[in-house]
Amino acid sequence: MNQHLSAAADAVPIGTSNVPDDVVRLVELKRRFGQTAALDGVSLTVRKGEILGIIGRSGAGKSTLIRCLNGLERPDSGQVFIEGREISRLGERELQPLRRRIGMIFQHFNLLSAKTVEDNVALPLKIEGRPRAERLAPAAELLKLVGLSEKAKAYPASLSGGQKQRVGIARALAARPALLLSDEATSALDPETTRSILALLKDINRQLGLTILLITHEMEVIRSIADRVAIIDAGRIVEEGPVWSVFADPKSAITRSLLGGIRPQLPAEISSRLTRTEGGEAILRIDVAGEAARGPLLSDLAEAVPGLFRLVHGGIDHVQQQPVGTLFLAVPGSDANHLARVIAFLKAREARVEVLGHVANSV
Ligand SMILES: Nc1ncnc2c1ncn2[C@@H]1O[C@H](COP(=O)(O)OP(=O)(O)OP(=O)(O)O)[C@@H](O)[C@H]1O
Ligand SMILES: [Mg+2]
Repeated sequence: MNQHLSAAADAVPIGTSNVPDDVVRLVELKRRFGQTAALDGVSLTVRKGEILGIIGRSGAGKSTLIRCLNGLERPDSGQVFIEGREISRLGERELQPLRRRIGMIFQHFNLLSAKTVEDNVALPLKIEGRPRAERLAPAAELLKLVGLSEKAKAYPASLSGGQKQRVGIARALAARPALLLSDEATSALDPETTRSILALLKDINRQLGLTILLITHEMEVIRSIADRVAIIDAGRIVEEGPVWSVFADPKSAITRSLLGGIRPQLPAEISSRLTRTEGGEAILRIDVAGEAARGPLLSDLAEAVPGLFRLVHGGIDHVQQQPVGTLFLAVPGSDANHLARVIAFLKAREARVEVLGHVANSV
């Protein structure tokens, strides 16, 4: 694949001293629609070469944010810098060359059905005014990059969803953008196709050093390819950081809720029986990450604190090669001293421990 990538490798201005390290910088961006603050003071940077994921519920402000980035929407206040240049007050004509620095891929692919695959991919070059003879070679190169060379002469209607998105990616790269914006690009695809498209994006990011900003409502997408994540809610960034650390220690309720689907949760048959009445068994939730999750935590616990405990649910996951674990333990609650020692041991090992409640009998 390397060989095919090399022609496209200058898609990103590598090593140019006048280009700042932040491809995008948003400063206190605000945009209202009537009573709705779609963006309520968003400050955020996208660093060169990274994959930043922005996740939020429906109506959180994701699309408005993207539209401010490519100049389709004007913020009421605040600033948008693309490669160091402030764009939010530029006119249409000045925006055109800057828009070419941003490639976009969409949920519904947005291919032109009357054009062949190669002509779709070459479209940004046509817009640049390049003659047909100079468009087809780069288009062929990009189709190789996304693994679709044999479909050059096909029409979009004959392609699967995953193939259409590959064409969308090739087209987005044609103008050699500094930034690839992905707005729910895998939301219309099945899980296996989603994985292959995400793997392709990661590959392009690694091999070309292309900066990617992806908008999604699925934590699984963030987990598979993003380096950093920002959580947006009601027009504000409520939390941001490296993906593994946000997974390990989500600070806001909205982040915890977005993580709910892919992090272990206490099974309903246990949570429905939780009470505040002590006795029976105490149910503990233990969150560990990094070094704490690498060691033999449970066997050390058994050795250090003689007495019973049972693992009722949970496991250790790996996010960005970092172990991130959530374990649910049942500890006999009749001996308050034993329970306190278990908790003290785990806390000393830098685990976060929460007593969720008690259940009357064995679960
Ligand atoms: N052109 C508009 N006119 C009026 N209200 C708008 C407009 N665009 C966005 N909004 C409102 O601003 C808020 C943020 O909308 P936005 O489309 O940015 O959300 P989103 O995070 O992209 O949601 P989704 O995941 O459903 O696409 C919503 O309350 C929406 O109704
Ligand atoms: Mg949207």
